[in-house]
Amino acid sequence: MPDMSNPSPLSRRLYCDNAATSFPKPPEVLRAITDYATAIGASAGRGGSAEAQASAAVIQTCRERLNTLFNAQNPLHFIFTLNATDALNLAIQGILAPHGGHAITSHMDHNSVLRPLHDLSLTRGIHTTHIPVDSPTCLVDPQAIKKALRPDTRLIAVVHGSNVTGTLQPIREIGKIAREANIPFLVDAAQTAGHVPIDVQADCIDLLAFPGHKGLLGPLGTGALYIRPGLEKILHPLRFGGTGTISEQAVQPDFMPDKFESGSHNALGIAGLSAGVAWILNKTLPALFTHDQNLAKTFMEAVDGCEGLRYLGPPGIKHRMGVFSVQVDGLSPHQLADRLEQEFGILTRAGLHCAPLAHAHLGTVEAGGTCRLSFGPFLNLPDIQFAADALASIALSVTATAR
Ligand code: ALA
Repeated sequence: MPDMSNPSPLSRRLYCDNAATSFPKPPEVLRAITDYATAIGASAGRGGSAEAQASAAVIQTCRERLNTLFNAQNPLHFIFTLNATDALNLAIQGILAPHGGHAITSHMDHNSVLRPLHDLSLTRGIHTTHIPVDSPTCLVDPQAIKKALRPDTRLIAVVHGSNVTGTLQPIREIGKIAREANIPFLVDAAQTAGHVPIDVQADCIDLLAFPGHKGLLGPLGTGALYIRPGLEKILHPLRFGGTGTISEQAVQPDFMPDKFESGSHNALGIAGLSAGVAWILNKTLPALFTHDQNLAKTFMEAVDGCEGLRYLGPPGIKHRMGVFSVQVDGLSPHQLADRLEQEFGILTRAGLHCAPLAHAHLGTVEAGGTCRLSFGPFLNLPDIQFAADALASIALSVTATAR
């Protein structure tokens, strides 16, 4: 183990909170934002100037890149949102609010799915089945979803990668079950978009909600919902208003993407997101996923067997990505996060991570959750070894004090 006795936290910051938002961003992303702000500036669809047209072109290019990344069928079916939560709300409320019925989700899902469903249970009488998961992997059994189907089931919503344990759910198997039953399948790709390959056609995904500011490396304030062609007909908009099209009519346009994109776009953010997606397409997702798995493997090997230290979730890389909830005996999650930052300059996130059922499954609610480390493409193997050594050193110091 390297000498951890004299770390210099002020000279080094190691960002391990990519599940909250990615940092750093590629220089291309920052350049695209600056270029938009300095050379374009105008708002797409709000005027015929060359600049307004350039803004529209920036937005369309981003849709096309997303369409390529996720092997989707039509770039106009990517609806820009504020973040993944906003996209999930559009999907969940848009499908369920007008018609009522039953929904299925899992214990690993985030409050961005659980809370809209809870609110719909209060306001529209929607009933939700929460599928339990396996220990310790936290995997959903697709057959349990099949068994939970009811004649009035209108939506299956499942998180792809857990923001607590990094568990990757078998979305293709679940998608096939949903497709056979003709139930819309919503995938929350908050953690996986840009980290793990996703093919909306092969995975039978009807609705894909994702942030632009995490794995896709765009700025905060960006996200999108992909709507499978045809499904837009039964999805009700959340927002109504100006689209720059058929302005003489009182009715909201029924064509894509205007049906769901009222108000001026966050074109500055979308310019950055587009550059982030281009960066990923250039590196390729399989290569980025392999890098993430190598980081995860290095972390697991480095902490394995360390006294008083453990990570939760799948014990190998088969069903996981580089998101780790860790515990050190004798320290609360917030104490551990504080020590990692103060003594080693390592940035993590402690708490319940807005996923209360996942923490209930893990038995970590009373302890105040866990301390989470989440990896990104700019971390390398020595960084991960440094983080694992820091954790081991803290665990050792707590054990030594207790003796
Ligand atoms: N859901 C995000 C996280 O896990 C914000 O940190």
